[in-house]
Amino acid sequence: MSTTDADRETWSTRIGFILAAVGSAVGLGNIWRFPFQVGQEGGAAFLVMYLAFVVLIGFPAMMVEFVVGRKTGLNTVGAIREFAGGAWKYLGGLFVFIGFVIMSYYSVVGGWVMRYILGSANGGYTGEVAEGAPPMAAQYFSEISVGWDALLFHGLFMLIVIGIVALGVQRGIELGVKIMVPAIIAIFAALAVYAFTLSGAADAYSYYLSPDLGYLLDNWQSIVPAAAGQAFFTLSLGMGVMITYASYLSEDENLGVDGASIVVFNTGISLLTGLIVFPILFSADVSPGDPGAGAIFVSVAKALGGIPLGTVVGVLFFGTVAMAALSSAISLIEVVVSYAIDEFGFDRFTATATIGGLIFLLGAPVTIDTVMVDLYDILAAKILLLTGGILLVTLVVWVHADEAIGELSKGIGRFGSLGSIWLWTVRVPVLIVLIVSLILGIQEYATFLTGDFAEFLGNL
Ligand code: PHE
Repeated sequence: MSTTDADRETWSTRIGFILAAVGSAVGLGNIWRFPFQVGQEGGAAFLVMYLAFVVLIGFPAMMVEFVVGRKTGLNTVGAIREFAGGAWKYLGGLFVFIGFVIMSYYSVVGGWVMRYILGSANGGYTGEVAEGAPPMAAQYFSEISVGWDALLFHGLFMLIVIGIVALGVQRGIELGVKIMVPAIIAIFAALAVYAFTLSGAADAYSYYLSPDLGYLLDNWQSIVPAAAGQAFFTLSLGMGVMITYASYLSEDENLGVDGASIVVFNTGISLLTGLIVFPILFSADVSPGDPGAGAIFVSVAKALGGIPLGTVVGVLFFGTVAMAALSSAISLIEVVVSYAIDEFGFDRFTATATIGGLIFLLGAPVTIDTVMVDLYDILAAKILLLTGGILLVTLVVWVHADEAIGELSKGIGRFGSLGSIWLWTVRVPVLIVLIVSLILGIQEYATFLTGDFAEFLGNL
């Protein structure tokens, strides 16, 4: 593992680590995925479940990854191997595989975002349409989300990711996040104020913020896996990113406080995104579950067409989203790259370029049709990340509980019974919820494969 050690940078400061982890967490998951999950799963009913899962499952699961990372001080695969013997070592391989899958469609969506920076600058998605035709933004989205355009921008996104990761992670991420997080908050706060003035705002708020418990009870079988998957996806859990990032931490760091800050930041940005997207959708008479993966590209884009300085705001908005996507993508690919450097002795540049190229190929089919995004996304969030999470959590809190508690207490000091509360929370309720979510997620995927996806294949 010596090559990686030499290549590896450490966070120069505590804030450097928090920023990098926030950079990984805040991304398309918050701005692109969150709104359409809320839209498809019934609004506030989903929101309640999601928030509960973030606090009760996401946060403890993040502690699990932090503990493994800091204790071993190694990349994901090495960390797992050192932490546990036997068949557990394959878990690191699973994480690498998950990184590949997520990255391949993440980059396609990242490409859409970059395309929208141009579209904002040249007015591509604004302008008049014929009476009764779909809004310009919807037409624009259906043109650029598939085909050569999508493939080209998928490639461009990958090239930028490769460039940054090949050059070294720390400067890129730290700088990116220092600009990105304040920019997202400022631009989003302004857009949320704008959204508040729209005619559909009141209806949107009640849809988004006042949960219908009856709906929740009737639909828990689809809400539960969606909420668990979204919690893992948005917090970058279940595939070892947080293991890798925590491996650079020192022992006097309070993991609980760091984790809590990351969770709060990340959740705040998702909540804010909803406050923008839903008023816009309701004002445009678009059903919130409708455009699916296109929700934000159609709705926010449409709104930008109707506000003063829309061009400037559009460039800033999609520019910021692109940065958020890049800083997450970096964390995804870094898991795979550090593994390749360790196992196969590649130098950083060769590893990054080779893996980047493979990811480009794996992502290429996603540009055929937007149903392909679902094919990858449901698999990733509702099956793979949850599987990774279940296995890692089991390993840490059942097989290596004493070490875990010992590691967690470093930097926190004596935390008495809090330690066993954490342990038992993760041991039983967290694991049960994750397992139930996974089973439901698998069922949902089977339905998708035999339904929408089979139909798509039939029409080819
Ligand atoms: N958390 C990132 C986002 O919300 C995505 C991600 C998932 C990154 C898993 C790393 C690992 O966009």
